[in-house]
Amino acid sequence: MAKFVIQGGKRLSGKIRVAGAKNAVLPMLSATLLTEDECEITNVPQILDVGNFLEILKDLGAKVERREQSVKISCARVTKTRPDPGLVASMRASVVLLGPLLSRKGAVELAFPGGDLIGSRPIDIHLRAFAQMGAKIEEGQTVKITAAKLSGCELFAESSVTGTENMVLAGVLASGRTVIKLAAAEPHVVCLCEFLNRMGAKISGLGTNTLVIDGVAGLHGAKMPVIPDMIEAGTFMALAAASKSEVDILEINHDHLDAVYHKFGEMGVNFEKFPNRLKVLPPKQAYQAAIVRTGLYPNLATDLQPLFGLLATQCQGTSRIHDWIWEGRLGYLAQLSKMGADVKLIDTHQAEITGPTGLSGGVIKSMDIRSGITLLIAAIVADGRSEIFDIHHIDRGYERIDERLRALGVEIERIE
Ligand code: EPU
Repeated sequence: MAKFVIQGGKRLSGKIRVAGAKNAVLPMLSATLLTEDECEITNVPQILDVGNFLEILKDLGAKVERREQSVKISCARVTKTRPDPGLVASMRASVVLLGPLLSRKGAVELAFPGGDLIGSRPIDIHLRAFAQMGAKIEEGQTVKITAAKLSGCELFAESSVTGTENMVLAGVLASGRTVIKLAAAEPHVVCLCEFLNRMGAKISGLGTNTLVIDGVAGLHGAKMPVIPDMIEAGTFMALAAASKSEVDILEINHDHLDAVYHKFGEMGVNFEKFPNRLKVLPPKQAYQAAIVRTGLYPNLATDLQPLFGLLATQCQGTSRIHDWIWEGRLGYLAQLSKMGADVKLIDTHQAEITGPTGLSGGVIKSMDIRSGITLLIAAIVADGRSEIFDIHHIDRGYERIDERLRALGVEIERIE
């Protein structure tokens, strides 16, 4: 079983580039199912989830040509409507296969999507929307959806990210107008809509909570880069801040990071912004405790909550963490406690962390993408040696993380 071995406690320095966003590229890959033409996506992160998603597309009949950071996909010969259940179960994002397959093939059968165990992950919002558009749904061991035709109507996305994406993916070729109210406005949703518009879709209201889609008869091929990953940018800021290092973070889209900058600033993180990049510097004074509450974009992303929890161990005073979106995202705190953090769990959504405390290395189990990277950074900050197991979780979302961290001076080894 692969593991990372880390010798922590060192100051880091150097440059690290932010990769393309995981949660943007996966729905874009799915969107290529909506046309017979070839599509090209660039700035594709080399992560496990992308590899698995491309395998799903190939298994469905797509022709895939991958070259480092770009991928060309042609779905002209897709015939299957039942994506490989084993691969589907490896990630939550496979749920976004529903909209395109239903729209293009009139039928789809999907095993229940897996992914991180961070809380209950129902898909009722997605299914209700398909039913409103005229589809028939059968739920059992799998979900089977069929529709001779999809009709535009008014839908409510309840701010679900992949729910909004599925509605958009189903709406672009539906007859008439689809209006999505309470749509998620995350940058990755906007990125998907921009890609679809380049393919000939008619979506307006991008970046707002109401998306209006006028159905078109067909879509054509398009080329587009994936946006930089705002979660990776925040992750690297937390790495530099918690290790009190000087690190240049390249390929940043500042517009996506207002809430992140605000909270790091409140905690006393010393950083300077430059066009498309940011420099984190050693702190001028002790970091300060803060209330860290996650929210819907443009508020602080739940995916960064564990990183703020880690920084809280290095802050003076008691921080309060409140993640109301997922009920299973505080599991990393038990492991941080073992490393020396002072943690009081209030309930499944809230905790208090009092600092500053030193951290010491240990044997750590990665549980999901974001807790995995958080504990990896904790091991970098901690004194002594750590071993991190179940690192496939980290590889799902962070490209060649060991190589990139080594370039900053981290003593990290991957042992297969
Ligand atoms: N929800 C329902 N019914 C639904 C769908 C969602 O009740 O049909 C609830 C969920 O249980 C949860 C809340 O709504 O409490 C938010 O879920 P949402 O649907 O927005 O999440 P998601 O689309 O499954 C995406 C990201 C997650 C990220 C969340 C929130 C992808 C592939 N995943 O998940 O990313 O945490 O939005 O921003 O885009 C990650 O990258 O580590 C990750 C978990």
